[in-house]
Amino acid sequence: MSEDFSRRNFVKSAGTALAPAVLAAQNVNSELQLAWIGTGSRGNYLLEMLYKGSVQPFKVAATCDTFTGNLAKGKDRVQTMGGNTPKTYNDYRELLLDKSIDAVVIATPEHLHHSMAIAALKAGKHIYVEKPLSHTIEEGAEVVKAAEKSGKVVQVGTQNRSNSLYIKAKEMVAQGMVGDVHYVRAFWYRNSLPDNPAWRYTIPGDANEQNTDWAKFLGPAPKRAFHKGRYYQWRLYWDYSGGISTDLLVHQTDVTNFVCGRTVPHSCVASGGIYRWADASDDREVPDTFSAIYEYPDKFHINYSCYFGNVRYGYGEQFLGNEGTIEVLNRQILTFTPETFGGKAPPHVAARKEMKIELPGNDNNAVQAHVRNWLEAIRGKEKLVAPVQIGQQAAISGHMATLSFKNKRMVIWDDKTQKHRFA
Ligand SMILES: NC(=O)c1ccc[n+]([C@@H]2O[C@H](COP(=O)([O-])OP(=O)(O)OC[C@H]3O[C@@H](n4cnc5c(N)ncnc54)[C@H](O)[C@@H]3O)[C@@H](O)[C@H]2O)c1
Repeated sequence: MSEDFSRRNFVKSAGTALAPAVLAAQNVNSELQLAWIGTGSRGNYLLEMLYKGSVQPFKVAATCDTFTGNLAKGKDRVQTMGGNTPKTYNDYRELLLDKSIDAVVIATPEHLHHSMAIAALKAGKHIYVEKPLSHTIEEGAEVVKAAEKSGKVVQVGTQNRSNSLYIKAKEMVAQGMVGDVHYVRAFWYRNSLPDNPAWRYTIPGDANEQNTDWAKFLGPAPKRAFHKGRYYQWRLYWDYSGGISTDLLVHQTDVTNFVCGRTVPHSCVASGGIYRWADASDDREVPDTFSAIYEYPDKFHINYSCYFGNVRYGYGEQFLGNEGTIEVLNRQILTFTPETFGGKAPPHVAARKEMKIELPGNDNNAVQAHVRNWLEAIRGKEKLVAPVQIGQQAAISGHMATLSFKNKRMVIWDDKTQKHRFA
């Protein structure tokens, strides 16, 4: 359904001014026309999650990718799961000219999110943009402004907010199950054999300068000669990624904000380096070993740690309350452990029972719920779970960590001016 089209029809039939509620109701039964910009690893997965978890009617009418191999994969996914053949594009600006498209998913590398989101909003599309919202704090602020001006529904891909275990953790914290929470430990650990370095994803064997549009991939990034590693392993280079800060950490500061009712930290000190994947032949720029310490207003602290050389503890968040601990591990296990105070726990704490919930594959459920929520919010049926302002809050914490790491200084966030400075 094109909104312009539905608006025209409505005006014709009703002959009256449009109230937003009526317009939303008007959308409910129409087929939403969707488009995908970026059908690489995440884009393809999001397509699968859309078909598995969203409420009809919708149609993926168009896809766009600058590597012909991934463009073909996206088209194939739509054909097999959606039953239609989408229009395919190499240039997202051409896709955005299609007025029948209501909403677009942006699942491209981080440095492209800003220009694509701004262009999509100008073209009147609703957006689902993958995290991090943008490559810098300033770019993110511009996307927030454009989204607010447009009135469009902008969901950011921080899907932990749609994960039933984090929703449960939030309820438990609000009920006082763990007492006061001043301290959260969050961590993400990975490991692999020496012949499989972290983030050195396999480069498609047939990729070359003819089927990989290097200039469009660079977009606003500094110009340089064609480099397959940079295109297919973009997470390893500062021009296109914030590395651990914006790829992994943002998920965990975001969900800590969600569970504990926080927004943006007051300060960040980060440290680390390239310790594990330091072979001279590896030209990676972003650290594989990273710690960040955050202070929030009102006595709240996050101790973040990430290392790509040991996977013993997996990943998760530990909400360390004065009366107990809630731990969410690998997005699929939640445990609750009351404090014992060496056998002297007050009765209201001693009465609390340990708890463990295990939901294998719960991240898939969360992503399905997150995409479904975006469509339902466009239809005016649900409140959006991760609006653009929340996505920007998550991105700010990631960018603060990168800024601290690169400058070897503490970064302070000024909420009044919405700008950072160094201590
Ligand atoms: N929410 C999550 O848990 C989660 C998980 C993984 C990735 N992501 C995010 O998804 C995004 C994509 O990551 P990925 O792992 O899929 O990367 P990827 O490299 O696998 O896919 C990116 C795709 O974008 C295409 N592309 C590059 N430049 C383009 C352009 N100018 N126009 C159109 N297409 C272009 C590439 O050809 C590729 O197919 C990133 O923002 C990443 O942080 C989020």
